[in-house]
Parts: sequence; C-alpha cells; structure tokens
Amino acid sequence: MKFAYILAVGALAACTAPEPPTGAQLFADNCTACHGADGTGSGWVAAGLKRKPANLTTLSARNKGMFPMERVLSTIDGFHRNPTFETAMPEFGSFFGGPMDQIELDGVMTPVPQPLLAVAEYLRSIQK
Ligand code: HEC
Repeated sequence: MKFAYILAVGALAACTAPEPPTGAQLFADNCTACHGADGTGSGWVAAGLKRKPANLTTLSARNKGMFPMERVLSTIDGFHRNPTFETAMPEFGSFFGGPMDQIELDGVMTPVPQPLLAVAEYLRSIQK
C-alpha cells in the first residue's frame, strides 16, 4: 500500500515538472497575436494597433546582417526601449524570469534569464 502511494507521488511529480518550454513554444504562446505565427507582424491583434508590430524575420537584415541580440533582449524584457516605442507590446521581464545563462553582449559576459534567451534564439533562427 505504502509502495503504491510512493509510485503515485512519483508520477505526479513527473507531471508537474515538465521540460521548460522551447523558444518556439514561448513565441507561439506570447507573441503571435501581434507578430503573427510566422513573425512577420501579421497577427490578428495587429490591425487594431497604432503601430504595426515589427517584422521579426528581418531583424538581422535591418541591422547590417547581424542579429541585434542586445536590442532584442532588452526590447522583450522592457529593460530598454526607444522612448517612442509602441506601448502596446507588453514588457515580458518578470514573465521570462528564471535560471540565468551567461552570454556575451558587446564583449561583456551578461546573465540572461533562460526563457528570455530561448525566445531571442528562436527569433535568430527565423531570420530571412
Ligand atoms: C500586443 C502586441 C504585441 C505583443 C503581444 C508582442 N509584441 Fe513585439 N512589438 C509589438 C509592436 C507594436 C512593435 C513595434 C513597436 C515600435 O516599433 O514602436 C513590437 C516590436 C518588437 C521588437 C522590436 C523589433 C525591432 O525591429 O527592433 C521585438 C524584438 C519584439 N517586438 C519581440 C516580441 C516578442 C519576442 C514577443 C513575445 C514574447 C512580442 N514581441 C510580443 C507588439 C507586440
């Protein structure tokens, strides 16, 4: 009887500790309403916004062929945005908190929450 109980608890723990979501999943859950499933800015909310959501597949193309990692991270978490930035886009800072990874930004090792980095890496992967 006791044994069965332990098994049940074990199964429950396995269910409640899923793999962390991938960048693609995080993007699908949080960003596609505005930026569209393909990232081009064609989401169903987009038409109602003052400013069109950015095309996220041309970030590198619009930045001399280099993916603007620092700008992307700080735009998503809301840490630094252009003063005229469309306020409709939520700041995902607290939402994308979690364990940190160290990455190099402008030559400086910088801690970045893993989910935030996962979304940014996903964006890097969809550049045209
Ligand atoms: C409610 C709509 C909305 C949601 C949800 C949203 N965004 Fe945005 N996003 C925008 C708008 C509008 C802009 C353009 C802002 C501007 O240029 O003033 C933008 C701009 C950006 C930019 C800057 C692009 C550039 O050219 O510098 C990035 C990066 C970005 N979004 C990523 C994301 C990610 C990743 C998510 C999901 C975690 C997300 N956005 C969710 C509306 C949204």
